[in-house]
Amino acid sequence: MEFIDFRVPAQGFSQPLLLWTASHDRAQRVALLLQRLFEHLRQHGPSQATRVTAGEVRRFMDEAAPRHHQDEDVDLFPRLRRRLEAANGNAFDPAQAHETALTLDRLELDHPVLDDLWAQVRAALVHADSATPTDAHCACAEQFVGTFLAHHGVEDQIITPIAERALRQDDLAAIGDAMAARRGTTWSALSMR
Ligand SMILES: [Fe+2]
Ligand SMILES: [Fe+2]
Repeated sequence: MEFIDFRVPAQGFSQPLLLWTASHDRAQRVALLLQRLFEHLRQHGPSQATRVTAGEVRRFMDEAAPRHHQDEDVDLFPRLRRRLEAANGNAFDPAQAHETALTLDRLELDHPVLDDLWAQVRAALVHADSATPTDAHCACAEQFVGTFLAHHGVEDQIITPIAERALRQDDLAAIGDAMAARRGTTWSALSMR
């Protein structure tokens, strides 16, 4: 089946919003791959190819997805909230700033929900390494994929354009540094390659 590219472009940490939206593109491709995997498993049962794909999906969701949630919960969303508060009706009208803050609250609440759903899908994938998934497994995977795609859709369509306007260069530098550190590297080390 398909290969999932875990690599991060070296220039990415200098442009954290580009890196962030690229992570969404990758995550959405993995979610759609997971959806197709369950459709295939339901019709044909497990094989060596499905075990390899399931392992790749598990690796992405276990390793990359938690770091991505931390990027948002620890760095991106708090900085964006502070900028919206500081805009004080200048760059953003108060209603838009308030609505964006509520959207950020809902997105943060989605993260543990997605984590719980993923734990269930993960167990279903382990089961499906050696047996056809049950209807409950497939329903759980559908719920996870639907919630996952809707969550990222809101981040891409609503939050990204506001973050591009609201965040300052020092915010972007700090977010990029934190994202690099979370992945065991530094921007300055990457830029010397
Ligand atoms: Fe998120
Ligand atoms: Fe995200």
